Amino acid sequence: MEIVIVRDAAEAGRVAALKIASVVERKPEAVLGLATGSSPTGIYASLAARVQAGELDFSRASGFALDEYVGIPLEHPESYASVIRRDVVEPLGMDPDRVRVPDGRADDIEAAAVEYDEAIAAAGGIDIQILGIGANGHIGFNEPTSSFASRTRIKTLAPQTRADNARFFDDPSQVPTHCMTQGLGTILDAHEVVLVAVGSSKASAVAGMVEGPLSAMCPGSALQLHQHATIVVDEEAAALLTLADYYRYTYANKPAWQRFEH
Ligand code: F6R
Repeated sequence: MEIVIVRDAAEAGRVAALKIASVVERKPEAVLGLATGSSPTGIYASLAARVQAGELDFSRASGFALDEYVGIPLEHPESYASVIRRDVVEPLGMDPDRVRVPDGRADDIEAAAVEYDEAIAAAGGIDIQILGIGANGHIGFNEPTSSFASRTRIKTLAPQTRADNARFFDDPSQVPTHCMTQGLGTILDAHEVVLVAVGSSKASAVAGMVEGPLSAMCPGSALQLHQHATIVVDEEAAALLTLADYYRYTYANKPAWQRFEH
């Protein structure tokens, strides 16, 4: 894992966006893995600004969302289909026909989940997967004790996750109890991943993910098995990392050919 410690949320979004931009510049038809929630908003804002400036073009890229709630209508403003359209597809100028979100409304949820993984594979796999991490260590909605081999499937949201996401709904009781999420195995298949975590509420999950043992109790620790994972954290989210100085030193001494900062 490469750990990049930055000043604040805005800087985290800017730095992580450089990773996405370099993939799309190299491969305009790249397949992006799209997270929702607060963590990636800085990434999307930074990329959208570059699209507006005419520096980046996502019109040939395609995307697969990480997850979707089960039990809310497609047109609900907080369905991830709505969020992805509003926060990603429109500002980045992506082709809506090339962007998929798991179908949390399918009559046969299990079949829809299997088909989602097949569609990712048929697209050639995800070139770069954007991730956040939950305070309990989840990535996607793979809650603690999720199998490292799991594929896209229905999951029950942990009470803490429902409480954390209540801010997006009028009333906490409206947060769905179930979701469809890419599995940890699905996420590990992505060619590259970039995860953003900001704020002190993420410090313990970040420490577990980066320095803790490989454990299904901290699903993010599965990323220790990924060969190309970049973790961008602000100072608060990095607060419990015992090797923080080493990560700063490593980043400061990256050879020019390896740098992704422009
Ligand atoms: C979102 C997702 C989740 C979030 C996580 C952190 O698609 O899969 O894993 O990344 O819950 O959420 P925020 O970023 O809102 O703190």
